[in-house]
Amino acid sequence: MKILILNGPNLNLLGKREPEIYGSSTFEDFFMELKKKYADVELEYFQSNIEGEIINKLHEVGFSFDGVILNAGAYTHTSVAIGDAIKGIKTPVIEVHISNVHSRESFRHTSYIAPNAKGVIAGFGLQSYELALESFL
Ligand code: DQA
Repeated sequence: MKILILNGPNLNLLGKREPEIYGSSTFEDFFMELKKKYADVELEYFQSNIEGEIINKLHEVGFSFDGVILNAGAYTHTSVAIGDAIKGIKTPVIEVHISNVHSRESFRHTSYIAPNAKGVIAGFGLQSYELALESFL
C-alpha cells in the first residue's frame, strides 16, 4: 500500500512554530517513528509552502497511490485550486489538522478540501496523521 503524507505551508516549522498549538516535535522525527511503526506501508512525505507544488504533487500521485493524507495548512481555508485538484484525481484524500480548527477563529471553519475528501480528522495533534493512516489500512 502506497500512501503520501502531504503537508502545506508553514508545516516545515513544526517544533518551532506556536508550540502551544502545534506541539514541540518536528514533523521529520514524527515521520521517522511512523515509518518504523508501519514498516509494511510504502509511506512517502512531501512538504511545500507553494500552492502549485502541492497541486503538482496531487496530480503526480493521484492515479497510482492508494491514499493521500493532506494537511494543506492555511490553504485549506482559501484554495479552490487544491479542492479542484482533489476532485480531479482518483486517489482518496483524507484532510487532517493538528489543531481543532473548529475551536479556533471562524475563518478556519471553512474548508475547500473537506467537500472533496474521504474524511476529515482534526484536533488530535500529530496523532491526526496516524488516525488517517489507520483508516486507510
Ligand atoms: C492547521 C490549521 C490551519 O488553520 C493552519 O493554518 C495551519 C495548521 C493544523 O494542522 O492545525 O497551518 O492545518
